[in-house]
Amino acid sequence: MRQGERSAQGPSPAGRKRAEASTLVIFGVGDLTQRKLLPALMELESQGDLEAGLKVLAVGRRDWSDQGFREMATQWVQKTPERKALGDRWEAFSQRLHFSPGAFDDQATYERVERRLGELGAEQGNQNVLYYLATPPDIFATISNALGGRGMQREEGGWRRIVIEKPFGSSLDSAMELNAQIHAIWAEHQIYRIDHYLGKETVQNLMAIRFGNAIFEPLWNRQFVDHVQITAAEDLGLEGRGGYYEHSGVVRDMLQNHLLQLFSLIAMEPPAALEAKAIRDEKVKVLRAVRPIPPERVAESAVRGQYGPGTIGKEAVSGYRQERGVAPDSNTPTYLAVRLDVDNWRWQGVPFFLRTAKRMPKKITEVAVVFRQPPTQMFPGSKERNVLAFNIQPDEGVSLSFNSKTPGAQNLLREVVMDFRYRSFGEPGGSAYSRLLLDAILGDPTLFPREDEVEHAWHIVEGLLEAWRWPEASFPNYPAGSWGPPSAVRLLGEGRSWREP
Ligand code: BG6
Repeated sequence: MRQGERSAQGPSPAGRKRAEASTLVIFGVGDLTQRKLLPALMELESQGDLEAGLKVLAVGRRDWSDQGFREMATQWVQKTPERKALGDRWEAFSQRLHFSPGAFDDQATYERVERRLGELGAEQGNQNVLYYLATPPDIFATISNALGGRGMQREEGGWRRIVIEKPFGSSLDSAMELNAQIHAIWAEHQIYRIDHYLGKETVQNLMAIRFGNAIFEPLWNRQFVDHVQITAAEDLGLEGRGGYYEHSGVVRDMLQNHLLQLFSLIAMEPPAALEAKAIRDEKVKVLRAVRPIPPERVAESAVRGQYGPGTIGKEAVSGYRQERGVAPDSNTPTYLAVRLDVDNWRWQGVPFFLRTAKRMPKKITEVAVVFRQPPTQMFPGSKERNVLAFNIQPDEGVSLSFNSKTPGAQNLLREVVMDFRYRSFGEPGGSAYSRLLLDAILGDPTLFPREDEVEHAWHIVEGLLEAWRWPEASFPNYPAGSWGPPSAVRLLGEGRSWREP
């Protein structure tokens, strides 16, 4: 068993795990650090998870002192709920924050970081370091190489790990190249590739419900399931990220990572144990079983779209091509629906329909397992299929819909729903980033995609990327605020319809 994949690090039923004293080096002080990482760290502070001692060393081009950085951080998080929750503990939290200035392509930057790590480590009593690359992806390899050049990945006097943000590559080839570059310096047990969907409570609940109950798993196969729908709809547009999105598009932004992660959790075989290696092995196995979609078959298996102007709620919003940073004749898809077929014993003949888009009527992420019709139809009324729906966000929960007799002399069926809401636990789960940061500090890689997982996911989407490069699409083909291009209905086949959750 590899280091870092110990079962002892798996989710412990006996209460919370606590972080060891360590130093978190964050490269980049942009949006991700300001809006996600700092609030996540504050959440961990509120929960008492940083008591053993965590120091943060942010690295960026700005010319801040430790104190200057603390003042900036004070402003960034001022209005967040995490700041409110922290109350007068903010002062103590802010003392954890340090700053080291420098450009990422300048060797002197790493010399300074190494010196500061020596000082901070001496205070901590160890050299445990988690590097977090919160930078644009084109400099991941530069930073990793520079750290390697100075031997800063060596686990002497403590552990050393590296967290790499998405997107991990922009194609199969580039992901393989990035994996090779990173592996030239780091061992796999030191590498944490982040997909924040895996940090969401309800995503972890997919496995808990499947494998923590006896009633679902026997139905989880081609005999009982008609199809599965995975929807990640967003009402937001680009939020100022036009430059990034133009190169990324919906396939790289959502399908290759978040949606295929949801897919693998819902479709995988039961792992032998709740430990990183066993779970990741099963996820890889099911990704490998997905039938490739060659470019010439994409037209029958997938639909792409791009939003035009429209209305969401009562607000008029502009089309994709009118967004800042987007070409007026852009061919970038903001919607996709794709049918995946899985060539294994469990799922042969059961299609998985994955759909995601920007500027839909509302934000909702849902995984719906749609069951077959009963073999004979004795009752009049509803012929709805039974559906087990996992509502990943925003109103986290699980619902089971089935047909029931309505009151009265007639044996008339109507669809009813049994509904469980996560909020009934009374305590909110932590945010995805706080969970994943804590896991990386604890050395638990279960919720981080492994090298082969990332590469198989790229392999699955390659045909789409190739086919959609050319010819140009007739975009826009759905108005903002709608459920996407009507042509997506044809993917489902006879007698099925897209859910509008
Ligand atoms: C990010 C994408 O990874 O996930 C964004 O880059 C997207 O485009 C976001 O909006 C969705 O995440 P969540 O947690 O809001 O569903």
